[in-house]
Amino acid sequence: MSTVSSPILAGCDFPALATHYPLADGRETRRHYLDSAASTLALESARQVADALLAHYANTHSQAHFSARVTSHAYHWAHRQVLRFLRADSERYSAIFAGSGCTALLNRLARTLAARRPERDIVLVATLEHHANDLPHRKHARQVIPIPLTGAAPALGAVDLAALKGLLERYAGRVNYLAVAAASNVTGIVNPVHDIAALAHAHDAWVVVDASQYLAHAPLALSDTGAVERELDAVVFSGHKLYAPGSPGTAVIRQALLTDREPDEVGGGMVDDVTLAGYQVTARFPDREEAGTPNIVGAVQLGAVLYLLQNIDMARIHAAEQRLLRRLVTELTALPGVRLYGDPDLERTPRLGVASFNLVGLEHGLVAAVLNDYHNVAVRNGCFCAHPYVRELLKPDLWALDLDVDAADAEAKIRPWRGMVRASLGLYSTDADIDALLTGIRDLLARPEYYRALYTVDAEGEFRHRTFSIAPATLFDPEALLDRALERLSVSRHVL
Ligand SMILES: Cc1ncc(COP(=O)(O)O)c(C=O)c1O
Repeated sequence: MSTVSSPILAGCDFPALATHYPLADGRETRRHYLDSAASTLALESARQVADALLAHYANTHSQAHFSARVTSHAYHWAHRQVLRFLRADSERYSAIFAGSGCTALLNRLARTLAARRPERDIVLVATLEHHANDLPHRKHARQVIPIPLTGAAPALGAVDLAALKGLLERYAGRVNYLAVAAASNVTGIVNPVHDIAALAHAHDAWVVVDASQYLAHAPLALSDTGAVERELDAVVFSGHKLYAPGSPGTAVIRQALLTDREPDEVGGGMVDDVTLAGYQVTARFPDREEAGTPNIVGAVQLGAVLYLLQNIDMARIHAAEQRLLRRLVTELTALPGVRLYGDPDLERTPRLGVASFNLVGLEHGLVAAVLNDYHNVAVRNGCFCAHPYVRELLKPDLWALDLDVDAADAEAKIRPWRGMVRASLGLYSTDADIDALLTGIRDLLARPEYYRALYTVDAEGEFRHRTFSIAPATLFDPEALLDRALERLSVSRHVL
């Protein structure tokens, strides 16, 4: 076992790391949070900046008073941090905030790009996408074609550039854009997005990059070399995966993709004038793309995170995380009874801080429940909103079940096995977290039947401990907190 246990970001700024939970064996221990791919913990210094803004908070659509000016200044600052983080040229690109994650912006891009070039009826979507970067394109493009990956299941790699080139040549003149994740939320595998952009641009196709699983882990510039043909056309991400819970979804988009057309959403703040007969959309970015009052505080919190990460240096963060990831991948692959998904060769197929696996003969739901209830290790299990990719990765395992797929109960039998367990890293991850995960896995592998007997499966397919449960309200009860606040609040009799 390793003894090193300092987090990637020393002087760690995450109060949520102190959270303790009671366990099924009677102990109470510190949570090991290995679910950062779903949402990261909040970075305190950034949250404090957002809290400080509340002293001035006003609407960015007001202008005349001090508070409105301070708030607008902070909100514009947040846009600038996004552009700077991705080294985007502010003359040609705009940062846009919308929704509560990147899903809203991916839907918007799918609608906008389909309307912009209806004659180009095909969108190429990588086989490893999260549903957020798949379903919007299926809904709005006439035809979506999957881009194959290198290798074979369960060790699939990144986007296969040769196969992509073949698709672009075969459908020359018909491909509107490509939708590709910078890194997978299932395996952490990194796609060569700039090579992909160069191939796409040679065929006049655009590239939409979902960087939700990338930006917390490694530096990304719109162009890696500065060459325009390698420049990404749109990059989207979710701030709640970047240490800023409650922040909006974010996109950096080439303005040329948006100009000369009416924005997808209309309302207050994006028009120069409105009469009963019509309205005139402003030419100003990002205003024309941000109808309505924005999530100002969340955006400023995200801007603060990006400022901090940029100054800490994403390359250093990446290097530190790679050491932990390498250990995780090496130790998982060395354990008999563990099946790791995606190419485990980190030189051939680079990955960021995510590893998904199964324990042979144990349902992913049972593994995740035991890791939580007995080891206080928080992981995600299931198909991670990437069903097509997970199905591809699992094919050899599901074939090994040797089920009669035409039998009436085939689906019920296969369901507990269709999924994986995912451990994912953040700035606060330590060797101690990986130790806890590996200890839990060894424990499960040593006495699977003992644990299976402790659980039942409910109607939703969730594994529930037979005798142990903690009501969430005993850990966090908003009403109890508010009742205490009500005791402190005195309301004037004149008002009542
Ligand atoms: C790669 C990727 N893309 C998109 C999303 C969707 O993000 P959100 O739910 O914040 O819109 C996720 C969330 O897990 C993701 O991992």
